[in-house]
Amino acid sequence: MMEVSGLTVRFGGVLPLDDVSVTFESSTCGLIGPNGAGKTTFFNVLSGFVTPASGRVRAFGEDLLAMAHYRRARWGLRRTFQTEQAIEELSVYDNVAMIHEHSRLTSSKRRDDVLEAISFVGIQASPSDRVGTLGAGERRLVEMARCVVGSPRLVLLDEPAAGLPDDETNHLAAVIRRIPQHTGALVVLVDHDMGLVSATCETTSVLDFGHLIASGPTAEVLQDERVVNAYLGTKEVA
Ligand SMILES: Nc1ncnc2c1ncn2[C@@H]1O[C@H](COP(=O)(O)OP(=O)(O)OP(=O)(O)O)[C@@H](O)[C@H]1O
Ligand SMILES: [Mg+2]
Repeated sequence: MMEVSGLTVRFGGVLPLDDVSVTFESSTCGLIGPNGAGKTTFFNVLSGFVTPASGRVRAFGEDLLAMAHYRRARWGLRRTFQTEQAIEELSVYDNVAMIHEHSRLTSSKRRDDVLEAISFVGIQASPSDRVGTLGAGERRLVEMARCVVGSPRLVLLDEPAAGLPDDETNHLAAVIRRIPQHTGALVVLVDHDMGLVSATCETTSVLDFGHLIASGPTAEVLQDERVVNAYLGTKEVA
């Protein structure tokens, strides 16, 4: 459960988030909106890359914004980025292990966690394979494994299905649906693929130029007139 209240971000004269208050209650929550709506900026606030002008975020009872950004990963914050982050020169195993290396666990428990995360997301390649030798879908799964390793509490996925063919998107949807039950984490999914959002998110919130314009059960939100209008003229919506 995450409660956002009065969140405002200012970039010069632009307000990419303007007094946004929203609660993420279901285990997998969609966050949608046209290009430039403020979705990635919101993730950047949660992960500490952007400092908001005002507002609060409580996640699992803790004041997330009061936490030093370098402590948020150990607390359980995980995210993917719109640009690929997996390191091609390293193995699948090392890419996932680097997220987990600061935990206080024994090295054998850490190793088990890393292998378990790799197996959970269904990577076909061997953990010792170099990421640079993998196809786009498998590399995306490496990023998903980085999100579930250890004990994640808040998993932020920023357009994880962008550019993937349908069969790989369907596999990704199955992985995303299993994350909350498997890890106990709250998942927030940003994507322009409404099929993926419908297949994975019980509830969905909609940003439009920094304003929250709808939030509720996904099927209802996607039919909301303001949401349909906000998307008119954008090509990305499937
Ligand atoms: N570092 C920055 N400095 C100035 N403006 C920024 C910065 N980052 C984002 N913006 C602006 O903030 C607004 C919101 O951008 P953001 O990337 O959050 O949108 P988005 O909803 O993720 O869009 P997309 O669907 O295209 O990824 C845009 O107008 C963008 O140009
Ligand atoms: Mg974005």
